[in-house]
Amino acid sequence: MTLTVLLTGAAGFIGSHTAVALAARGNRVIGLDNFNPYYDPQRKRANVAEIAAEAPAADFRLVEGDLRDKPLVERLFAEHRFDVVVHLAAMAGVRASADDPVTYYDVNLGGTLTLLEAARAYGQGRIVFASTSSAYGATTRLPFREDDPADRPLAPYPASKRAAELLGHAYHHLYRTSFTALRFFTVYGPRGRPDMLTYRLVDAIRTGVPLNLYEGGRMARDWTFVSDTVAGIVAAVDAALGYEIVNLGRGEPALVSDFLAAFERYTGRKVPWIEAPKPEADVERTHADIDKARRLLGYRPSVGLDEGARRMVEWYERAVAKLSEA
Ligand SMILES: NC(=O)c1ccc[n+]([C@@H]2O[C@H](COP(=O)([O-])OP(=O)(O)OC[C@H]3O[C@@H](n4cnc5c(N)ncnc54)[C@H](O)[C@@H]3O)[C@@H](O)[C@H]2O)c1
Repeated sequence: MTLTVLLTGAAGFIGSHTAVALAARGNRVIGLDNFNPYYDPQRKRANVAEIAAEAPAADFRLVEGDLRDKPLVERLFAEHRFDVVVHLAAMAGVRASADDPVTYYDVNLGGTLTLLEAARAYGQGRIVFASTSSAYGATTRLPFREDDPADRPLAPYPASKRAAELLGHAYHHLYRTSFTALRFFTVYGPRGRPDMLTYRLVDAIRTGVPLNLYEGGRMARDWTFVSDTVAGIVAAVDAALGYEIVNLGRGEPALVSDFLAAFERYTGRKVPWIEAPKPEADVERTHADIDKARRLLGYRPSVGLDEGARRMVEWYERAVAKLSEA
Protein backbone atom coordinates (compact mmCIF):
# COMPACT_ATOMS: atom_id res chain seq x y z
CA MET A 1 0.00 0.00 0.00
CA THR A 2 1.29 3.47 -0.85
CA LEU A 3 1.74 5.59 2.23
CA THR A 4 0.57 9.18 2.06
CA VAL A 5 2.74 11.37 4.27
CA LEU A 6 2.32 14.95 5.43
CA LEU A 7 5.84 16.37 5.76
CA THR A 8 6.00 19.72 7.53
CA GLY A 9 9.13 21.81 7.03
CA ALA A 10 9.70 20.07 3.67
CA ALA A 11 11.63 22.99 2.15
CA GLY A 12 14.12 23.09 5.02
CA PHE A 13 17.43 21.31 5.47
CA ILE A 14 16.37 17.96 6.96
CA GLY A 15 12.89 18.20 5.41
CA SER A 16 14.20 18.37 1.84
CA HIS A 17 16.30 15.21 2.34
CA THR A 18 13.36 13.46 4.02
CA ALA A 19 11.14 14.34 1.05
CA VAL A 20 13.65 12.73 -1.33
CA ALA A 21 14.01 9.59 0.80
CA LEU A 22 10.26 9.06 1.25
CA ALA A 23 9.43 9.78 -2.39
CA ALA A 24 12.25 7.52 -3.60
CA ARG A 25 10.60 4.53 -1.94
CA GLY A 26 7.25 5.31 -3.49
CA ASN A 27 5.48 7.29 -0.77
CA ARG A 28 3.10 10.10 -1.71
CA VAL A 29 4.49 13.18 0.01
CA ILE A 30 2.61 16.41 0.67
CA GLY A 31 5.05 19.00 1.96
CA LEU A 32 3.98 22.03 3.99
CA ASP A 33 6.35 24.97 4.46
CA ASN A 34 5.87 28.70 4.93
CA PHE A 35 9.36 29.69 3.67
CA ASN A 36 9.81 31.92 6.68
CA PRO A 37 12.71 34.37 6.65
CA TYR A 38 14.65 32.88 9.61
CA TYR A 39 17.27 32.32 6.91
CA ASP A 40 17.16 33.32 3.26
CA PRO A 41 13.98 31.79 1.76
CA GLN A 42 15.84 31.57 -1.57
CA ARG A 43 17.90 28.79 0.01
CA LYS A 44 14.65 26.93 0.76
CA ARG A 45 13.45 27.45 -2.85
CA ALA A 46 16.79 26.05 -3.99
CA ASN A 47 16.23 23.05 -1.67
CA VAL A 48 12.86 22.38 -3.33
CA ALA A 49 14.52 22.53 -6.75
CA GLU A 50 17.09 19.98 -5.52
CA ILE A 51 14.28 17.64 -4.38
CA ALA A 52 12.92 17.69 -7.93
CA ALA A 53 16.41 17.07 -9.36
CA GLU A 54 17.24 14.22 -6.96
CA ALA A 55 13.85 12.48 -7.19
CA PRO A 56 12.48 13.37 -10.64
CA ALA A 57 9.72 10.76 -10.51
CA ALA A 58 8.65 11.77 -7.01
CA ASP A 59 5.02 11.96 -6.04
CA PHE A 60 5.78 15.16 -4.14
CA ARG A 61 3.74 18.30 -3.84
CA LEU A 62 4.65 21.34 -1.82
CA VAL A 63 1.94 23.47 -0.23
CA GLU A 64 3.14 26.93 0.75
CA GLY A 65 1.44 27.78 4.02
CA ASP A 66 1.69 28.07 7.76
CA LEU A 67 1.40 25.20 10.18
CA ARG A 68 -0.56 27.51 12.49
CA ASP A 69 -3.23 28.11 9.84
CA LYS A 70 -5.87 25.76 11.26
CA PRO A 71 -8.33 25.85 8.31
CA LEU A 72 -5.45 25.09 5.91
CA VAL A 73 -4.17 22.18 8.01
CA GLU A 74 -7.70 20.76 8.33
CA ARG A 75 -8.25 21.08 4.59
CA LEU A 76 -5.05 19.11 3.95
CA PHE A 77 -6.11 16.32 6.30
CA ALA A 78 -9.61 16.20 4.76
CA GLU A 79 -8.23 16.11 1.24
CA HIS A 80 -5.37 13.63 1.65
CA ARG A 81 -6.22 11.27 4.54
CA PHE A 82 -2.59 11.03 5.64
CA ASP A 83 -1.24 7.74 6.94
CA VAL A 84 1.67 9.40 8.76
CA VAL A 85 2.70 12.93 9.71
CA VAL A 86 6.41 13.73 9.78
CA HIS A 87 6.53 17.00 11.67
CA LEU A 88 9.82 18.82 11.10
CA ALA A 89 8.62 22.43 10.70
CA ALA A 90 9.90 24.62 13.50
CA MET A 91 11.74 27.71 14.54
CA ALA A 92 15.06 25.93 15.05
CA GLY A 93 17.68 28.31 16.45
CA VAL A 94 18.82 27.68 20.03
CA ARG A 95 20.39 31.12 20.54
CA ALA A 96 17.84 33.00 18.40
CA SER A 97 15.02 31.65 20.57
CA ALA A 98 16.15 33.82 23.49
CA ASP A 99 15.39 36.92 21.39
CA ASP A 100 11.94 35.79 20.22
CA PRO A 101 10.49 33.27 22.67
CA VAL A 102 6.88 34.08 21.75
CA THR A 103 7.29 33.05 18.12
CA TYR A 104 9.24 29.95 19.16
CA TYR A 105 6.41 28.80 21.41
CA ASP A 106 3.73 29.81 18.93
CA VAL A 107 5.25 27.72 16.12
CA ASN A 108 6.89 24.87 18.01
CA LEU A 109 4.20 24.20 20.59
CA GLY A 110 1.08 25.90 19.15
CA GLY A 111 1.81 24.55 15.65
CA THR A 112 2.30 21.04 17.00
CA LEU A 113 -1.03 21.31 18.84
CA THR A 114 -2.77 22.32 15.58
CA LEU A 115 -1.39 19.17 13.94
CA LEU A 116 -2.26 16.90 16.86
CA GLU A 117 -5.82 18.22 16.87
CA ALA A 118 -6.26 17.81 13.12
CA ALA A 119 -4.79 14.30 13.29
CA ARG A 120 -7.21 13.40 16.08
CA ALA A 121 -10.22 14.89 14.27
CA TYR A 122 -9.42 12.97 11.07
CA GLY A 123 -8.56 9.71 12.80
CA GLN A 124 -4.90 9.84 11.72
CA GLY A 125 -2.87 7.98 14.27
CA ARG A 126 0.87 8.30 13.65
CA ILE A 127 3.16 11.29 14.18
CA VAL A 128 6.95 11.43 13.92
CA PHE A 129 8.20 14.59 15.60
CA ALA A 130 11.57 16.35 15.30
CA SER A 131 12.90 16.99 18.79
CA THR A 132 16.37 17.96 19.87
CA SER A 133 19.42 16.94 21.87
CA SER A 134 19.29 20.39 23.48
CA ALA A 135 16.29 19.14 25.49
CA TYR A 136 18.89 17.45 27.76
CA GLY A 137 20.24 20.85 28.87
CA ALA A 138 23.43 20.85 30.89
CA THR A 139 22.96 17.30 32.14
CA THR A 140 26.02 15.59 33.60
CA ARG A 141 24.72 12.12 32.71
CA LEU A 142 26.74 10.91 29.73
CA PRO A 143 25.95 9.63 27.19
CA PHE A 144 22.49 11.22 26.97
CA ARG A 145 19.78 8.61 27.51
CA GLU A 146 16.11 9.01 26.75
CA ASP A 147 15.15 8.28 30.39
CA ASP A 148 17.03 11.40 31.60
CA PRO A 149 14.44 13.83 33.06
CA ALA A 150 15.44 16.53 30.51
CA ASP A 151 13.62 19.11 32.58
CA ARG A 152 16.27 21.85 32.75
CA PRO A 153 16.44 23.35 29.22
CA LEU A 154 18.79 26.31 28.72
CA ALA A 155 16.72 28.29 26.20
CA PRO A 156 13.13 28.72 24.96
CA TYR A 157 13.81 26.57 21.86
CA PRO A 158 14.58 23.33 23.74
CA ALA A 159 11.86 24.19 26.28
CA SER A 160 9.32 24.45 23.45
CA LYS A 161 10.45 21.13 21.94
CA ARG A 162 10.32 19.36 25.30
CA ALA A 163 6.84 20.84 25.88
CA ALA A 164 5.74 19.45 22.49
CA GLU A 165 7.08 16.00 23.45
CA LEU A 166 4.95 16.15 26.60
CA LEU A 167 1.89 17.26 24.65
CA GLY A 168 2.45 14.29 22.36
CA HIS A 169 2.23 12.04 25.38
CA ALA A 170 -1.10 13.55 26.41
CA TYR A 171 -2.51 12.77 22.93
CA HIS A 172 -1.09 9.29 23.04
CA HIS A 173 -2.72 8.72 26.43
CA LEU A 174 -6.10 10.16 25.50
CA TYR A 175 -6.46 9.17 21.84
CA ARG A 176 -3.86 6.39 21.31
CA THR A 177 -1.98 8.60 18.85
CA SER A 178 1.38 6.98 18.06
CA PHE A 179 3.90 9.74 18.76
CA THR A 180 7.61 9.20 18.20
CA ALA A 181 9.84 12.10 19.22
CA LEU A 182 13.24 11.80 17.56
CA ARG A 183 15.95 13.83 19.28
CA PHE A 184 18.34 14.93 16.55
CA PHE A 185 21.98 15.68 17.39
CA THR A 186 23.76 18.48 15.44
CA VAL A 187 22.80 17.44 11.94
CA TYR A 188 25.07 18.55 9.08
CA GLY A 189 25.48 18.00 5.36
CA PRO A 190 24.29 19.29 1.98
CA ARG A 191 21.53 21.94 2.17
CA GLY A 192 22.59 22.59 5.78
CA ARG A 193 21.21 25.68 7.49
CA PRO A 194 23.28 28.84 6.89
CA ASP A 195 23.05 29.75 10.60
CA MET A 196 24.75 26.50 11.66
CA LEU A 197 28.47 26.00 12.21
CA THR A 198 29.09 23.61 9.31
CA TYR A 199 27.80 26.04 6.69
CA ARG A 200 29.54 28.98 8.32
CA LEU A 201 32.88 27.22 8.51
CA VAL A 202 32.83 26.27 4.82
CA ASP A 203 31.85 29.88 4.07
CA ALA A 204 34.78 31.09 6.18
CA ILE A 205 37.21 28.89 4.22
CA ARG A 206 35.93 30.36 0.95
CA THR A 207 35.66 34.03 1.94
CA GLY A 208 38.52 34.23 4.44
CA VAL A 209 36.18 36.07 6.86
CA PRO A 210 36.91 34.56 10.30
CA LEU A 211 34.40 32.49 12.15
CA ASN A 212 33.49 33.15 15.80
CA LEU A 213 34.63 29.94 17.47
CA TYR A 214 33.19 29.44 20.95
CA GLU A 215 35.73 28.45 23.59
CA GLY A 216 38.27 28.04 20.78
CA GLY A 217 36.52 24.85 19.61
CA ARG A 218 36.78 22.98 22.92
CA MET A 219 33.04 22.21 23.07
CA ALA A 220 31.94 18.75 21.86
CA ARG A 221 29.05 17.77 19.59
CA ASP A 222 27.66 14.45 18.46
CA TRP A 223 27.77 15.43 14.76
CA THR A 224 25.31 13.42 12.67
CA PHE A 225 25.37 13.35 8.91
CA VAL A 226 21.97 14.16 7.43
CA SER A 227 21.55 10.86 5.54
CA ASP A 228 21.88 8.98 8.85
CA THR A 229 19.27 11.21 10.51
CA VAL A 230 16.93 10.72 7.56
CA ALA A 231 17.36 6.92 7.67
CA GLY A 232 16.17 7.11 11.29
CA ILE A 233 13.18 9.28 10.33
CA VAL A 234 12.15 6.87 7.56
CA ALA A 235 12.44 3.91 9.93
CA ALA A 236 10.21 5.77 12.42
CA VAL A 237 7.61 6.36 9.69
CA ASP A 238 7.26 2.60 9.40
CA ALA A 239 7.14 1.88 13.13
CA ALA A 240 4.02 2.51 15.19
CA LEU A 241 5.75 2.63 18.57
CA GLY A 242 3.03 4.02 20.82
CA TYR A 243 4.81 6.83 22.64
CA GLU A 244 8.60 6.89 22.45
CA ILE A 245 11.46 9.35 22.64
CA VAL A 246 14.47 8.19 20.62
CA ASN A 247 17.93 9.72 20.22
CA LEU A 248 19.19 9.99 16.65
CA GLY A 249 22.84 10.90 17.06
CA ARG A 250 26.02 9.21 15.96
CA GLY A 251 27.11 8.18 19.43
CA GLU A 252 30.65 9.44 18.77
CA PRO A 253 31.04 13.06 19.88
CA ALA A 254 33.97 15.11 18.60
CA LEU A 255 35.41 18.43 19.69
CA VAL A 256 34.43 21.33 17.46
CA SER A 257 38.16 21.77 16.73
CA ASP A 258 38.37 18.15 15.48
CA PHE A 259 35.27 18.71 13.33
CA LEU A 260 36.99 21.75 11.76
CA ALA A 261 40.12 19.67 11.20
CA ALA A 262 38.16 17.20 9.03
CA PHE A 263 37.19 20.08 6.72
CA GLU A 264 40.76 21.38 6.70
CA ARG A 265 42.05 17.95 5.69
CA TYR A 266 39.60 17.65 2.83
CA THR A 267 40.01 21.20 1.47
CA GLY A 268 43.71 21.56 2.29
CA ARG A 269 42.89 25.02 3.71
CA LYS A 270 42.73 26.47 7.21
CA VAL A 271 39.43 27.63 8.71
CA PRO A 272 40.01 31.25 9.79
CA TRP A 273 38.54 31.86 13.25
CA ILE A 274 38.58 34.10 16.30
CA GLU A 275 37.80 32.90 19.81
CA ALA A 276 34.46 33.92 21.34
CA PRO A 277 32.82 33.09 24.68
CA LYS A 278 30.24 30.28 24.79
CA PRO A 279 26.68 31.70 24.51
CA GLU A 280 24.57 31.13 27.64
CA ALA A 281 22.02 29.09 25.65
CA ASP A 282 24.60 26.55 24.43
CA VAL A 283 25.51 23.33 26.21
CA GLU A 284 29.16 22.25 26.64
CA ARG A 285 28.75 18.89 24.99
CA THR A 286 26.25 16.50 23.47
CA HIS A 287 26.62 12.74 23.32
CA ALA A 288 23.86 10.38 22.23
CA ASP A 289 23.28 6.91 23.58
CA ILE A 290 21.85 5.30 20.43
CA ASP A 291 21.02 1.84 21.80
CA LYS A 292 17.31 2.55 21.78
CA ALA A 293 17.38 3.75 18.16
CA ARG A 294 19.29 0.60 17.20
CA ARG A 295 16.79 -1.59 18.98
CA LEU A 296 13.52 0.08 17.93
CA LEU A 297 14.44 1.44 14.51
CA GLY A 298 17.37 -0.70 13.31
CA TYR A 299 19.29 2.60 13.19
CA ARG A 300 22.97 2.27 12.14
CA PRO A 301 24.67 5.62 11.46
CA SER A 302 27.41 5.11 8.90
CA VAL A 303 28.88 8.44 7.77
CA GLY A 304 32.01 9.55 9.63
CA LEU A 305 33.48 13.05 9.81
CA ASP A 306 35.86 12.80 6.83
CA GLU A 307 33.20 11.44 4.51
CA GLY A 308 30.67 13.97 5.85
CA ALA A 309 33.08 16.86 5.29
CA ARG A 310 33.73 15.74 1.72
CA ARG A 311 30.03 15.49 0.87
CA MET A 312 29.26 18.86 2.51
CA VAL A 313 32.05 20.72 0.71
CA GLU A 314 31.20 19.14 -2.67
CA TRP A 315 27.61 20.30 -2.33
CA TYR A 316 28.60 23.75 -1.14
CA GLU A 317 30.96 24.27 -4.08
CA ARG A 318 28.32 23.13 -6.55
CA ALA A 319 25.27 24.80 -5.06
CA VAL A 320 26.36 27.79 -2.99
CA ALA A 321 29.78 29.08 -4.02
CA LYS A 322 28.81 29.10 -7.71
CA LEU A 323 25.60 30.99 -6.98
CA SER A 324 27.32 33.69 -4.93
CA GLU A 325 30.04 34.14 -7.55
CA ALA A 326 27.50 34.42 -10.40
N1 LIG B 1 19.57 20.77 12.13
C1 LIG B 1 19.79 20.25 13.34
O1 LIG B 1 20.93 20.00 13.74
C2 LIG B 1 18.62 19.94 14.26
C3 LIG B 1 18.93 19.44 15.55
C4 LIG B 1 17.87 19.14 16.41
C5 LIG B 1 16.57 19.30 15.99
N2 LIG B 1 16.31 19.81 14.74
C6 LIG B 1 14.90 19.96 14.34
O2 LIG B 1 14.72 19.36 13.05
C7 LIG B 1 13.72 20.07 12.33
C8 LIG B 1 14.26 20.49 10.98
O3 LIG B 1 15.38 21.36 11.21
P1 LIG B 1 16.27 21.97 10.04
O4 LIG B 1 17.65 22.08 10.56
O5 LIG B 1 15.99 21.25 8.79
O6 LIG B 1 15.68 23.45 9.99
P2 LIG B 1 15.12 24.34 8.80
O7 LIG B 1 14.88 25.70 9.38
O8 LIG B 1 16.00 24.22 7.61
O9 LIG B 1 13.73 23.64 8.47
C9 LIG B 1 12.52 23.97 9.11
C10 LIG B 1 11.51 24.34 8.06
O10 LIG B 1 10.27 24.61 8.71
C11 LIG B 1 9.65 25.69 8.07
N3 LIG B 1 8.72 26.33 8.99
C12 LIG B 1 9.05 27.02 10.13
N4 LIG B 1 7.93 27.50 10.71
C13 LIG B 1 6.89 27.07 9.94
C14 LIG B 1 5.49 27.26 10.03
N5 LIG B 1 4.94 27.97 11.02
N6 LIG B 1 4.70 26.70 9.09
C15 LIG B 1 5.25 25.98 8.06
N7 LIG B 1 6.58 25.79 7.92
C16 LIG B 1 7.39 26.34 8.86
C17 LIG B 1 10.80 26.61 7.67
O11 LIG B 1 10.46 27.50 6.61
C18 LIG B 1 11.89 25.61 7.29
O12 LIG B 1 11.91 25.38 5.89
C19 LIG B 1 13.29 21.23 13.21
O13 LIG B 1 12.13 20.85 13.92
C20 LIG B 1 14.45 21.39 14.18
O14 LIG B 1 14.04 21.98 15.38
C21 LIG B 1 17.30 20.13 13.87
